[in-house]
Amino acid sequence: MSTKKVLVTGGAGFIGSHLVDALLLRGHDVVVYDNLSSGRKEFLDHCMDRIEFLRRDLVTDKGLAGLLKNINHVYHVAANPDVRIGADDTWTSVEQNIMATYNLLEAMRIARPDTPPSISFTSTSTVYGNATMLPTPEDYGPLMPISQYGASKLAAEALISAFSDNFGIKASVFRFANVVGSRSTHGILFDLYHKLKKDPKRLEILGDGLQRKSYIHVSDCVEGLLHATETQTSMFEYFNLGTDDYAVIKQIPGIVIDAMGLKNVELHYTGGHKGAGWKGDVKYMSLAIDKILATGWRYRYNSIETLKKAVREIISDLEQ
Ligand SMILES: NC(=O)c1ccc[n+]([C@@H]2O[C@H](COP(=O)([O-])OP(=O)(O)OC[C@H]3O[C@@H](n4cnc5c(N)ncnc54)[C@H](O)[C@@H]3O)[C@@H](O)[C@H]2O)c1
Repeated sequence: MSTKKVLVTGGAGFIGSHLVDALLLRGHDVVVYDNLSSGRKEFLDHCMDRIEFLRRDLVTDKGLAGLLKNINHVYHVAANPDVRIGADDTWTSVEQNIMATYNLLEAMRIARPDTPPSISFTSTSTVYGNATMLPTPEDYGPLMPISQYGASKLAAEALISAFSDNFGIKASVFRFANVVGSRSTHGILFDLYHKLKKDPKRLEILGDGLQRKSYIHVSDCVEGLLHATETQTSMFEYFNLGTDDYAVIKQIPGIVIDAMGLKNVELHYTGGHKGAGWKGDVKYMSLAIDKILATGWRYRYNSIETLKKAVREIISDLEQ
């Protein structure tokens, strides 16, 4: 594989920083672009001398096209990934996920009209909404997201598709399952850990506990993203990226409680919104991953193994 100059938007975040590590291992020249709204510079401390780090904002940056002139490939990871805020705040996802993606695509087009950089985009299983077909394949439709976040990611996918067709931008879209692992700054494991730190005797869990979701370890996710990007031959592709099983939410408190060495914790399920965790939460999510498996990629950890490994990593991060 030839080495490239790559830009990672959101490269100081949870998934982005792991992606940066994997790109450096492959010998690429990496530029990290991040406004540090939820990312952390310390996630890159260990490699700061081997990357170019730019603290800039995709929404306001007027110099993006200049920056992209000598970039071969963009991993567009930056987003506001908080699904929950959408029930009260309908603007953030539009600005951070749609406008930011538009600004990036427009800059890619202007930077090099004849040979624009290619792009890999980190989308989400939430674009499927409450799918009636589980596991859900990439060509399932109609796509009816139930959160502002899912809607904004679907809109960003659509922009990428149109820019790809109109301006010859090679693109791939990855619809991730729930991604967990070290450097997590949000998500169920992170939430349960913090709640138990506050009160080791009683744990509140959002929803009725019967939600079913697929989990993938961040290392498997990054390898899948890179493998499918590197082997892609067509101009535009969609891939589900997850494991082909799921965990039931009520299995997760025990995993966290055991990993923290706690006993006799009283569990309290909130009931949530129609049994889901909150308004906009997809209660049942599992992805058909035959397409990405056909590229030759394999995950190493199934959903439960992923959760057990990730919780140990999160505890070690937070208790260092
Ligand atoms: N974590 C998951 O389970 C999951 C699941 C599906 C999809 N995704 C997607 O994967 C990507 C990474 O998610 P994550 O969990 O690592 O979240 P994260 O919050 O850790 O990473 C997002 C990064 O983008 C940066 N950012 C946000 N807005 C920006 C802007 N306007 N300009 C520049 N940088 C900006 C943040 O500072 C942060 O470093 C996101 O696109 C998210 O939607 C994540």
